[in-house]
Amino acid sequence: MNTLVITIDGPAGAGKSTIARELAKRLGFDFLDTGAMYRCVTLAVLRQGVAFEDTERIARIAESLQLEMQHGRVTMNGEDVSQAIRQPEVTQHVTRVADNMAVRSVLSSLQRRYARGRRIVTEGRDQGTEVFVDSPCKFFLTASREERARRRWRELQQRGVATTYEEVLQQQDARDARDASRAVGGLRIAADAMVVDTDGLTTDEVIDQMVQRVRLEFPQLVSAADPRHAVDEGQEV
Ligand code: DC
Repeated sequence: MNTLVITIDGPAGAGKSTIARELAKRLGFDFLDTGAMYRCVTLAVLRQGVAFEDTERIARIAESLQLEMQHGRVTMNGEDVSQAIRQPEVTQHVTRVADNMAVRSVLSSLQRRYARGRRIVTEGRDQGTEVFVDSPCKFFLTASREERARRRWRELQQRGVATTYEEVLQQQDARDARDASRAVGGLRIAADAMVVDTDGLTTDEVIDQMVQRVRLEFPQLVSAADPRHAVDEGQEV
C-alpha cells in the first residue's frame, strides 16, 4: 500500500489529539501520537537520572528505546507506559527533551519509518513543517487563547484540580511565549496547511469539517491510493 500521511499540527489546547485520533478512526487510518514519543524519552531520562543538559546521552537513550503504539496504548521496551507518560513530572520536563536537536532527529526518523507503507494521521507540532513536508494533506488546528484556556480549565476541574480560569490562562500565556521563542521545534504553520479554527465548534463538528475537506480535496486519500501523492519514503532530515 502506498504511504499516505495526514498531518495535524497546532498549539496545546486546540484539541489536536482527540481530533486526530477520531479522524484516523473515521478514515480507517493508523494514528501516530508524536507527543507520546517525546514523553517516552522524557520518562526514560527521568528514570535513569540523566541530566537534561547531557544532550548526546539523551539522544542515545532515544535511539535505544523500543517504542510501540497500538490500540491507543504506548509501550516502551515492552512496558505499558500509557499512564506513566502523562504524569505531571513528565509533562513538566518534556520540553527539555523536545528542545534537543539530536533527539528530534532520532524521533523524526522513527516517525518516517512508522509511516512507511501505512496510511496515517499524525499529530504533533512539526509534522507538516519538518517531518512530512511532502504530505499532500496538512491541517493546522487552532483556537483562541481564551477558548484553549477554558478547555484546559474545564478538564482540570473534571479531574478535581483546584485552579482558576485566570491562573490557567496566565500559565498558558507563559507557555506560549516560551514556545514562540524556542530555537528548535517551535510552532509554525506550513504554507500548504489548512487552518481550522475550532472556536465554538464541538469535536464532531471539527472532524466533520476535516473529513469533508479530505473527501473533497484529496479523494485519493479516502478511495484508491494515488501514487502521485504518496509521501517520499525514508526521507532523512
Ligand atoms: O502533545 P503533547 O503534550 O503530548 O506533547 C508533549 C511535548 O512534546 C510538548 O512539549 C510538545 C512536544 N512535541 C514536540 O516538540 N514535537 C512533536 N512532534 C510533538 C510534541
